[in-house]
Amino acid sequence: MITETDPIKHRIMIMSGKGGVGKSTVAVNLALAFVGNGKNVGLLDADITGPNIPKMLGIEDELPSADEELLVPVYLPLGCDHGLSVMSMAFMIEKDAAVPWHGPLRTDFVQRFVEDMRWNQWGALDYLIVDLPPGTGDETLCIAEFMDVDGAIIVTTPQDVALLDCRKAINMAKGIGIPIIGVIENMSGFVCPHCGYAIDLFGKGGGKRVSEEMCVPFLGSVPLDPQVVIAGDSGIPAVLEIKSATADSLEAIAERVSEFAESAEPESG
Ligand SMILES: Nc1ncnc2c1ncn2[C@@H]1O[C@H](COP(=O)(O)OP(=O)(O)OP(=O)(O)O)[C@@H](O)[C@H]1O
Ligand SMILES: [Mg+2]
Repeated sequence: MITETDPIKHRIMIMSGKGGVGKSTVAVNLALAFVGNGKNVGLLDADITGPNIPKMLGIEDELPSADEELLVPVYLPLGCDHGLSVMSMAFMIEKDAAVPWHGPLRTDFVQRFVEDMRWNQWGALDYLIVDLPPGTGDETLCIAEFMDVDGAIIVTTPQDVALLDCRKAINMAKGIGIPIIGVIENMSGFVCPHCGYAIDLFGKGGGKRVSEEMCVPFLGSVPLDPQVVIAGDSGIPAVLEIKSATADSLEAIAERVSEFAESAEPESG
C-alpha cells in the first residue's frame, strides 16, 4: 500500500535457480505489461555482475542523477502520466567493464539500491520489479533482507537440470519466508515460423510439474520465440505489441501477478 512514507505499492522479485533461463526477459516484459495497463512501474536490476536491463530496454545515454543523498532512476515516460523508472549497475560502470567483486561489496550496492533511491520522482510506484542474478546468493539474500517484498516469481526452463535448481530457489524463498507468487516456465516449446511444426526443444510441462510437487502456484509458460531474442538484443522490447502466443502468455502471466498483488492489499475504508 502506498503511504506518505512508502511510495511503492508492490515489490516483486524475479529469481531462478539456474542462469540464463529468462529472468531479465520476464522482468522487462512484466514491467512493460504493467505500464501498458496504466501502472507506474520501477525496474531494479539487482544483478550487480551481469546487469542486462538497460541494454534490453535500449537505454544508452541516459544516466541516473543524484538528488541530495538519493539516486534518481532513469525514467522512460511510456504513458501520458506513467512510465518506467530503471536503476542498474550498468549505469555505474563502463560498457564492457567487469565487476569482479566479492559478496560484501555486491551486497553494499544492492543495499544502496534499496535504501538510497528516489523511486517516486515521477509519482508513486504501483510496482517495483526486482531482477536478480541466478541462484541463492548474496544479491537475492540482500533483497530479501532489506526490501519488504510482496513475493517472488521463480523462472525456469523445462529441462531437468533447470528444474533441479528451480526446486532449490523455491526452497530458499520458503526458507526465508518470502511468499511465492508462482513459477513461470520459459522457453517452453518452439513453433517453427516456417512450417508451424511444434518442437519441445527443452521439454515441456516441467515447470507445472514442479509447482504441483512443491505446492506453489504455476503462473504460465512462455514459448521459445525468436522474436524475444530480437527484442532483447535490439533494445526495442516490442514483444507485447505484436499479436502472438508469446505476447498472450506474458499478458496472462502479468494478470495473474496483479491478482496476487491486489489480493494481498488491505481492504480500504
Ligand atoms: N521465451 C524466450 N524465447 C526465446 N529466447 C528467449 C526467451 N526468453 C529469454 N530468451 C533469450 O535467452 C537469453 C537469456 O535470457 P535472460 O538474459 O532474460 O536470462 P536470465 O535468466 O536473466 O540470465 P542471467 O541468469 O544471466 O541473468 C537472452 O538472449 C534472451 O533473449
Ligand atoms: Mg538476467
